[in-house]
Amino acid sequence: MFRLILALCLLNLFNYTVAAEPDSAQENTSDIALTIVQDKCQHCHGMEGEASNVLYPRLAGQHNQYIVKQLQDFRSGARKGTMNDMARDLTDPEILALASYFSSKPTLSHRVRNKEFAQVGWYIFHRGNEYSDVPACSSCHGENGEGSDKLPRIAGQHKRYVADQLTEFHNRERTNDNSIMHSIASKLTEMEIHAVSNYVSGLK
Ligand code: HEC
Ligand code: HEC
Repeated sequence: MFRLILALCLLNLFNYTVAAEPDSAQENTSDIALTIVQDKCQHCHGMEGEASNVLYPRLAGQHNQYIVKQLQDFRSGARKGTMNDMARDLTDPEILALASYFSSKPTLSHRVRNKEFAQVGWYIFHRGNEYSDVPACSSCHGENGEGSDKLPRIAGQHKRYVADQLTEFHNRERTNDNSIMHSIASKLTEMEIHAVSNYVSGLK
């Protein structure tokens, strides 16, 4: 019995020492992120990544690796826009810290008012358009728009931002995506862009 207790104590001690390191490392990472978010990012993306305005994308629950890639691309200029100035001075550890900060925030979704229009979006999202060779968005972004490590979450995103990005892909203004989204967006009509944007904004 004594041996068992001793073994359990040792095990506990072991667990404690193993756990102590990552905990303090984690604290440092979130401190770094918190300071930068308070100073810069929150003005447009909000403290919780909810976005302060429909022009700015929601970052809450966006995938870690995707955020890292976008910030690196903004920093290098591979993706162009307002964000180039914000990302210019970020270091790699800061980028990692910011990505884990925003990816761990709870996700939000919108109430879709125009239900009939969103139905058109439902069709594009889940079935695509076989007449113009548009694949179903769900085949990459997931059945609920949840995305994955390298594929962005689009569920609950502002419809205005989604439509703007699809238009940018279409016009080849956003070119850091290995042209996958360009080939898709270039086949979408204006109506399809707005319908699918409406639909995804309501996904949870
Ligand atoms: C002045 C407003 C503004 C500030 C401040 C700002 N952003 Fe942005 N951010 C934008 C806009 C606008 C976009 C959309 C891309 C574009 O059109 O340039 C964006 C896009 C992004 C994206 C890509 C999202 C996606 O879904 O592809 C990430 C990641 C991001 N911002 C992170 C940050 C971080 C981290 C900070 C703080 C260091 C920050 N932003 C500060 C306006 C801002
Ligand atoms: C073959 C896979 C694939 C399909 C199908 C696909 N996407 Fe994408 N999509 C991607 C990838 C990969 C990215 C990330 C691009 C990057 O790295 O910048 C992306 C990015 C996006 C973005 C930008 C998100 C952001 O946060 O900035 C939007 C919006 C989007 N896709 C919408 C759609 C819609 C709507 C459809 C259906 C009409 C669709 N996608 C179909 C692969 C796909």
